[in-house]
Amino acid sequence: MTNLQFKRHRRLRHTAALRSMVKETYLHVEDFIYPIFVAEGEGIKNPINSMPGVYQFSLDTFEQELKEVVDLGIQAVILFGLPAEKDAEGTGAFHDHGIVQKATRRAKELYPDLLVVADTCLCEYTDHGHCGVVEGEQILNDPSLDLLARTAVSQAKAGADIIAPSNMMDGFVVAIREALDAAGFQHIPIMSYAVKYASSYYGPFREAADGAPQFGDRKTYQMDPSNRQEAFREAQSDVDEGADFLIVKPALSYLDIIRDMKNTHTLPIVAYNVSGEYAMVKAAALNGWVDEKAVVLETLLGMKRAGSDLIITYHAKDAARWLKGE
Ligand code: PBG
Ligand code: ZN
Repeated sequence: MTNLQFKRHRRLRHTAALRSMVKETYLHVEDFIYPIFVAEGEGIKNPINSMPGVYQFSLDTFEQELKEVVDLGIQAVILFGLPAEKDAEGTGAFHDHGIVQKATRRAKELYPDLLVVADTCLCEYTDHGHCGVVEGEQILNDPSLDLLARTAVSQAKAGADIIAPSNMMDGFVVAIREALDAAGFQHIPIMSYAVKYASSYYGPFREAADGAPQFGDRKTYQMDPSNRQEAFREAQSDVDEGADFLIVKPALSYLDIIRDMKNTHTLPIVAYNVSGEYAMVKAAALNGWVDEKAVVLETLLGMKRAGSDLIITYHAKDAARWLKGE
């Protein structure tokens, strides 16, 4: 027995102090970006059925939500807007008094240090629900770039600290970079949804943001879940075009891709822990089938271990509380 050659890995797990000493990955409240949905109107706090704990806010109730977020020590929010009206071009996305622009101004007035990330897309503002300009059944690439660039500039003018384009048109990073620079926003970083898959996990979000495509799907612009090599190409082109952060989305079924991006690029890597991932955990937790706190923290830790520097997550407020020991 004593001559047998084997390793005693358990030595380093023997006590809590030892385990703590050799811990490799940590979660911090600074890792989180919290998504908030803002709608026109007053006194609105509409629960999203498939996302317990997540609401659509009007500007007044949004203020209370922001206070909670800031009090918890969360440093960044990402805003999604529900406009009063939609049209073919999604003009609500780039109105200077669009809903996200108003919410951004309000947030920066109240909390100048809070980082406001603006999601730059058209699908919440177009009547057809696609992320670009539509002709017949086609989603046109180049004509969409101008609208996205205008959206980014109007978001920056409203005070957004980071522009996060999620539309998956080719060339959106360079189009937005040039427009921001020309408008005097050279200092505003672009957090690109560089690697975004055409995923079934966005279902609950489309209810929350009222952004479901009215015909077809997003497979001609978002990526095929089967593909890994393509993720390297998508990320490389965004790096070449001047992106400052790279988002991989969704997170849980794509942890391998997060690791690939971390190993290949030196930009900060962001995981988007999407709505469907949140919904699954919430559903199981509300049934008493899993321990919510333990499962959420383990899941978020897994995303960090996979290589993400930051996580966009609907669990951010709960996780912030749990990390404080509450
Ligand atoms: C809009 C957008 C989507 C999400 C973020 N921005 C939906 C989509 O592409 O259909 C999904 C976020 C989530 O599911 O939490 N382009
Ligand atoms: Zn979109």
